[in-house]
Amino acid sequence: MKVNTQLLSKNVGQQIINTDNINILDLDREEIINLFKSYGFLLFRGLENSVDTFTQFTNSLSKDFLDYTGGVFNRRVINGNATILSVNDFKDEIKLHGEMYYQQDIPLMLWFFCAHPASQDGETILCDGRQFFNELSSPLKELFSKKKLKYVGHLNKDAWQKQYKTNDLKVVEQTCIRNNLLLQINDDESIDLQYICPAIHPSRCGKYPTFISSLLPAKHRYKNTVFFEDNSEITDDIVSELNEVADRITTEISWQAGDILMVDNTRIMHGRRAFSDHQRDIYLRLCSPAFPF
Ligand SMILES: [Fe+2]
Repeated sequence: MKVNTQLLSKNVGQQIINTDNINILDLDREEIINLFKSYGFLLFRGLENSVDTFTQFTNSLSKDFLDYTGGVFNRRVINGNATILSVNDFKDEIKLHGEMYYQQDIPLMLWFFCAHPASQDGETILCDGRQFFNELSSPLKELFSKKKLKYVGHLNKDAWQKQYKTNDLKVVEQTCIRNNLLLQINDDESIDLQYICPAIHPSRCGKYPTFISSLLPAKHRYKNTVFFEDNSEITDDIVSELNEVADRITTEISWQAGDILMVDNTRIMHGRRAFSDHQRDIYLRLCSPAFPF
């Protein structure tokens, strides 16, 4: 089935519109893949999706689904499937970020499903990391090109058992080695983690520098969890400029029930506006594309 589309912002994002009461599973696969590669994220709207069609549709386009081991938020498992997760369990704003950019193993793509939108607010926000880089001032381009970020975390026993889904520190050790995370095990069985990576990454085609990181929510929500590699501070002035760029180039998704959002996590940063409606229910899948990418 041919795909009807509409631009979601000036440069990135396309909305797939249902004109003939079609089933999402009948949409032309190649066209979806080409749109995704060009536009970075796609919103599928008005297709009467359930969790089951969401699962089938995402299974048809993705592989290597992750269960969020190593992720910092609490997420609920949906329908007993460990690769379908709720978004986090609080209502505050989350600044723009690449998913799990505080470790080596990132999901290359993300899927969101709106089971229940908030009655107001709670929009998901998105921006193009290539455009983010282009909009940075020359000094910040130079600074982030020269200096990598250092993420640090301290987890007590209870916290690392939850985050790494194991009681066995040897398993944590293996995960950390795989993820280039520096692990220190303390006498009280708490752990300290450290991860160094750049904020600017080349695009998958190698042509475009892309600003994508977990820096903004880390600075916004937690104290002393991210620095430059040389331990120098990422100052409030730097964070202000980044937030100002983010505000300028952000696209908002005001959720409708049944919406599906497909996101390139190597190019697009996402976040969300605060909300108060406790019925807001958005699901997430973390995976890789099941097509050349
Ligand atoms: Fe996220």
